[in-house]
Parts: sequence; C-alpha cells; structure tokens
Amino acid sequence: MEKILTIQFRELESWKLLNDSDQELVKKAYEISQNAYAPYSEFYVGASVQMANGEILTGSNQENIAYPSGLCAERVVLFYAGSQFPKTKIDTICVVAKGDLLPFDKILSPCGACRQVMLETEIRQTDQVRVILVSQNEKTLIFNNVKDLLPFAFGTI
Ligand code: THU
Repeated sequence: MEKILTIQFRELESWKLLNDSDQELVKKAYEISQNAYAPYSEFYVGASVQMANGEILTGSNQENIAYPSGLCAERVVLFYAGSQFPKTKIDTICVVAKGDLLPFDKILSPCGACRQVMLETEIRQTDQVRVILVSQNEKTLIFNNVKDLLPFAFGTI
C-alpha cells in the first residue's frame, strides 16, 4: 500500500513578524552566534531555547581542529539544558546563522545528528518542541514539532 506523508509548517517573510517572545528568541540566537568558535567554517550559528519556566538558554557552534570533535549550536544548547535543568520542559528551539557557507536566502536547517538529539528531547519530555529556523535574509519557518523534521526516526516506527 502506498502512503503519503505530509507536514504542516508556517513560513514568514521575516522573523520580525513573529510575536514578541519568539522575536526575543531570534534576537538571543543572533546574540549568541557571536560567541561561536568557528575558525574553520567561518559559519556562526546561534541556537536559543525557550524553556517552560520562561527562561531562555543559548548556545553556539564550537569547532575543533579535529573536525568531528566540534559540536553544532543546537546540540550545545540542548545538552546544556539537559545537564543544568533536566526536569524543565523545552517549548521552542530557534536556530540562526551568519556566514558564507549558505546562500543568503537559504534556511539553516539542522543537521541529521541535531535532529536526532532534538527528537529525543521531545520524546523524553513527552511534549512537542517547536522549531523556528531563520535564514540570513530573515525568511522564517516554524515547525510544530521535531518529529515532522525527522520522520521514521530510529526507534519511532
Ligand atoms: N552547524 C551548526 O551549528 N548547526 C547546524 O544546524 C549546521 C551546522 C555548524 C557546525 C560547524 O561548526 C559549522 O556550522 C559548519 O558546518
């Protein structure tokens, strides 16, 4: 039997059309992207997380001369959240980037490894994590949950 999978997401021309608290997340992600340690790719990624208690946590990509030892911004902030606040649920993760690695109008979409970690956050807390992705020309995509970004993930089917 053939089946079709559809996902729903919202697209905005600019993140400045988001509500105030989501805009704050985007600003915080841009702020932390300045702390990226990215001498090899010169691609500066920022990730911010809105927690259920109202707090915002942030992280940036951290590279290493032994390339695979580095870590993406998303995993930096999620592992920080998990280690500091293991019981606090995460409502939303927002990811932004600056650099020539991606054309200006392309959305920074989390890599497969980050999606896997984002998905486990969702499964672990038994609540959806919203995902906000912003391109360098401000285009914004909003997904309702991580599962939509990683269908048929290991252990879920
Ligand atoms: N990177 C992230 O931080 N997040 C992503 O979603 C994709 C890529 C980082 C890893 C590396 O430091 C640089 O961007 C280039 O791939």
